[in-house]
Amino acid sequence: MEIDLTNNTPVLLSRIGRPESHTLSDYRADGGYEGLARVLRDMKPEDLIQLIKDSSLRGRGGAGFPTGLKWSFLPKDHPGPIYFCLNADESEPGTFNNRILMEEDPHQVIEGLILACYATRSVTAYYYMRYEYPRAWERLLKALDECYSAGILGKSVLGSGFCLDIFPHRGAAAYICGEETGLIESLEGKRAWPRIKPPFPAVEGVFRKPTVVNNVETVACVKQIVDRGVDWFKSLGVPADPKNPRDPGSYGPKLYCLSGHVERPGCYEAPLGITVHQLVDHFGGGVWKNRHAKAAIPGGISMGLLKADEFDCPLDFAGPGRYGCLGLGTAAVVVMDETVSMVDFLHNSARFFAHESCGQCTPCREGTAWALRMLERIRAGRGRLKDLDLLLEIGDTIGIMPGTTICGLADGAAWPLKNAIRKFRSEFEEYMQRTNPSGYQQTDAVPALSSLSHGGH
Ligand SMILES: Cc1cc2nc3c(=O)[nH]c(=O)nc-3n(C[C@H](O)[C@H](O)[C@H](O)COP(=O)(O)O)c2cc1C
Ligand code: SF4
Repeated sequence: MEIDLTNNTPVLLSRIGRPESHTLSDYRADGGYEGLARVLRDMKPEDLIQLIKDSSLRGRGGAGFPTGLKWSFLPKDHPGPIYFCLNADESEPGTFNNRILMEEDPHQVIEGLILACYATRSVTAYYYMRYEYPRAWERLLKALDECYSAGILGKSVLGSGFCLDIFPHRGAAAYICGEETGLIESLEGKRAWPRIKPPFPAVEGVFRKPTVVNNVETVACVKQIVDRGVDWFKSLGVPADPKNPRDPGSYGPKLYCLSGHVERPGCYEAPLGITVHQLVDHFGGGVWKNRHAKAAIPGGISMGLLKADEFDCPLDFAGPGRYGCLGLGTAAVVVMDETVSMVDFLHNSARFFAHESCGQCTPCREGTAWALRMLERIRAGRGRLKDLDLLLEIGDTIGIMPGTTICGLADGAAWPLKNAIRKFRSEFEEYMQRTNPSGYQQTDAVPALSSLSHGGH
C-alpha cells in the first residue's frame, strides 16, 4: 500500500532554499535552539534518552540501528569522558542528504548534536566531515564560531552549566572513513582500518573511551522529535509489525536522494515507506526523455539492485530486504533507464569497491579485486558463462553476513554482484555470447586479468 502524500510537508528541509538559512540569526528567528534551552532546563539526560527510545528513531546512516537503544549501551556512571562522533563522512554513492543539511541548515544539525551529547553525557563531540565538502565545511566553521560567541557551546551551554566542545575534523577522503570504527581510527590520526567488534564503540571507542557514533540526519531527527514530540514522529512512516516483536518499525520523515535518469533529480523529504514508484514519479517527474526504467539502486550502491518491475518496493527499513536487496541503506535511489548496460553497471560498481576496500580482510581485498578483474575481462570480450557463477561465489562468501570480514564494506560489494547477475543473468549471457562467440562456453582456466586494461602485469 502506498503512503498518502497529500499532506506531505517537509520538516527537516523546511528551511532550505532561503538565502540566509545557514546563519544563526535566521535559525533563531525560526525558534532555533529554543528546544535545546527547554531540554537543558526541564529534562535530565535519561529523560531525553527515554524520549528518543519512545520515538523508535532508527539511525539514518545505513544500518537503521535504534538510536535510543544505542545510547543506553553506554556504561552508567562512567568516571571518565564519553565522546560523541558525528558521522558526516557521507561517501555512499548516490547519497547527498547530509550535505544539503550541513550546507543549508548547519544549526539544525548542531542543535541535534548538542541534544544528543546532552543525552549521552558526552563532553566532547567530533564532527567528522567528508573531505570533499568544502562548502559544508566552511559553513560549519562559521556556525561553530557563531555558537561559541552566543554561548551555545563552551563552558556552559545556554547558561545551563552543561559543558560541551565540538571539534570539526576533516575526513581522510576514503569511503571506509564512514564505517564507524574506521572513522574512529582516522580521527585518532591513523589509517581508517575498521576495528574488530566487540568491543563496540559504546564500550571502547575513540581514544579507547565510550563513544557514540551517529549520522547527521539522525541528530537532525532528534532535534525535530524534541520540538514536535513523539506522537508527531510516530504519525509518519510504517508501524512495527505486531507479529514480529523484534521489528522496531520505520517511523518518521526521511531524506531521499534521487539521481540518475529522472526528470527532476534532488533530495526530497517524505515519510519512511514511500515506494520507489512514488519517489521516481511523484517527486522525480518520472524517467527522463520519455524512456523506460530498467533498474534502480534502492539505498546507495551497497544495497544492491531493483528491477523496474520491483519499483513497488517500499523504502522503509524492511522493504528492500523483501526484494532481495541488502536493506534501505541511505535511501539514495539511482535510476537507470533502458539504455544502461548491466555489464557496465556492475563493472563500475566493482571498480568502486575494489578501490575502496581497506585491504585488511583477505576475502574482501581479494574478492573485490578479482571481481573487478573478471568484469574487466568480460567487458573486453573474453567472458565465459562460468564467470557468472564464479562472481556469484565471491558475492555469496564475502562480508559480515557470511562471517568472513571485519566490516560491512564487503557485504556492500557483494549485493550489486548478486543482484545484477541473479536479476539480469540473461543480459550477461547474451553479452558474452555476442562479444566472445568462440569462447563463451570455455571451461578451462584463462587469465582473469585483462591485458587490454592492465598491460598484462
Ligand atoms: C563501508 C561503510 C561506510 C559507511 N559510511 C557511512 C557514512 O558515510 N555515514 C554514516 O553515517 N554511516 C556510514 N556507515 C555506517 C556507520 O558504520 C554507522 O552505522 C553509522 O554512522 C551509525 O549512525 P546512525 O546510527 O545514526 O545511523 C558506513 C558503514 C560502512 C560499512
Ligand atoms: S571488509 Fe573490507 S573494508 Fe572492511 S575491514 Fe575488511 S578489508 Fe577492510
